Amino acid sequence: DPFLFLPQALLAWFDEHARDLPWRAASPGRRDPYRVWVSEVLLQQTQVVRGKVYFERFLTAFPDVAALATAPIEAVLKAWEGCGYYARARHLHRAAQVVVRDGFPQNYEEWLALPGIGPYTAAAITSIAYGEERAVNDGNVRRVLSRLHAEKEPGELWVQARADELLFRADPGRWNEALMDLGATVCTPKSPRCGVCPLSSFCQARKSGRPGDFPTPKRR
Ligand code: ADE
Repeated sequence: DPFLFLPQALLAWFDEHARDLPWRAASPGRRDPYRVWVSEVLLQQTQVVRGKVYFERFLTAFPDVAALATAPIEAVLKAWEGCGYYARARHLHRAAQVVVRDGFPQNYEEWLALPGIGPYTAAAITSIAYGEERAVNDGNVRRVLSRLHAEKEPGELWVQARADELLFRADPGRWNEALMDLGATVCTPKSPRCGVCPLSSFCQARKSGRPGDFPTPKRR
C-alpha cells in the first residue's frame, strides 16, 4: 500500500498546523454537537475567515440548542445577517425545534433526516462530534484526492470511494478536519505549496510536475 504512512504524515502535520477555529475549542472529551452543527452549516457557503466572526456572533445570541429553538425566527435571521442564504438559518431554527423535542440525532442517518442537513454536513458532524466513521467529501477533499492520485476529472463517486478508503478510522473527525485544512492552506487551487506539504512524497500530481493542473477546472 503506497499510502501506508500517509495518515501519520498528515496527522503529524495537523498537530502542528491546525487552524485555530472557535468551533474546535475542546469541550472536555467530545466536541459539542451544537457548535459543530452551527459551524458546518455556516461554512457550507461562507469562507472560514468570515465564518469565524459570524460563528461567535451566532453563538453569543444562541449559546445552545434550546436558546435557538425558542427564539423568534426574526431574531435568528437577524443574527444570520451578512451570511446570506437565509434558508440555512430557517432550517437551523426548525431543526433546533425538532432536536429540543426529540433529542440530538445520534448517527449519520438521523442527522440526515433534519432540515438543512445533507450528506456533507451529516458526515462532518457525526465524524467530528461522535467519532462516526464517515469521510467528508467537499471541494478541499476533492482537490487533495485528485492530486494524490493524479486524477484530472474526479467524479462524485470516485471522490467518495477514495475518501472512504483513506479515512483514518481511529479518529475520523480529526482526519476529516486535517484534510480540509490541508486543502485550504497548502493544497490550494492555484500554486499549491508542495514544498511544505506533508503529503508531497505520496502525491502523483506533484510527480507530474504540474500539480496545479489537477483537477481540471470545471468549464462554465
Ligand atoms: N470547512 C468546513 N468545515 C470545516 C472544518 N470543520 N474545519 C475546517 N474547515 C472547514
